Amino acid sequence: MFKEKKSIKIFEKPADTEFCSFKGSIAVVIDVLRATSTIINAIHNGCRGVVPVAEIERALLLRQQYFAQKPLLCGERYGKKIDGFDLGNSPAEYQNEVVRDKVLILTTTNGTPALTAAQEAKVIYVLSLLNLETTVNQVACLNEDINIICAGTNGQTSLEDNVCAGLFINELVKKSDKFLTDNKCSEIVTQANEYRDNLLTMLRTSRHGQYLEEIGFGPDLEFCSKLNFINACAVFENGMIINSFLVS
Ligand code: MLT
Repeated sequence: MFKEKKSIKIFEKPADTEFCSFKGSIAVVIDVLRATSTIINAIHNGCRGVVPVAEIERALLLRQQYFAQKPLLCGERYGKKIDGFDLGNSPAEYQNEVVRDKVLILTTTNGTPALTAAQEAKVIYVLSLLNLETTVNQVACLNEDINIICAGTNGQTSLEDNVCAGLFINELVKKSDKFLTDNKCSEIVTQANEYRDNLLTMLRTSRHGQYLEEIGFGPDLEFCSKLNFINACAVFENGMIINSFLVS
């Protein structure tokens, strides 16, 4: 019987999405270093939800809106914690005893703008190397077109996001034959497979990885490189990223 194929498209940086509408589609957003890795660790460690915002001013406004829930203000600029904020953007900071039951308002340089850029989509999945397999299992069950949006670094494509996207596509097409990929997807998959067994080295050679090591966040690279380390699936819906396993 004829089975309708679904497309997988990759956008290597947010600017590539400029003339696209994601209305009604499924989006998957990646910022391996470090926003989506941090979000997945926070969700895994029991936060109530993460509200991603592009601007610091918006984060401060939202703190008033969520005041009764005593939210934590989180985020970075130039990789470092923003003055006056509770947490930076290192996944190591987001331990259970710190984030449990908390609403986190998060603003980062590239990751949270990529998430908010995809906001029109029906469902947005938050992807990192940490939760790749779990997210593949969820997305493979959907009968929808998939748009993968990489945050990149400061307007440029980033090796680490492309590798994560390639591994994701590779696993997704292995799981289900309903997806159609284009040449760009094939290139990204080939590149990802070259790095598959050397993810930490890949992060250490990436531009942003080198910068993070220079400013003292080397251990974050080790954490962010752990493929399938966390069994969590996070979705961004109605303004908040939540653990999709807890949605009834
Ligand atoms: C970003 O959103 O640009 C990053 O997550 C930066 C970082 O490493 O903190």
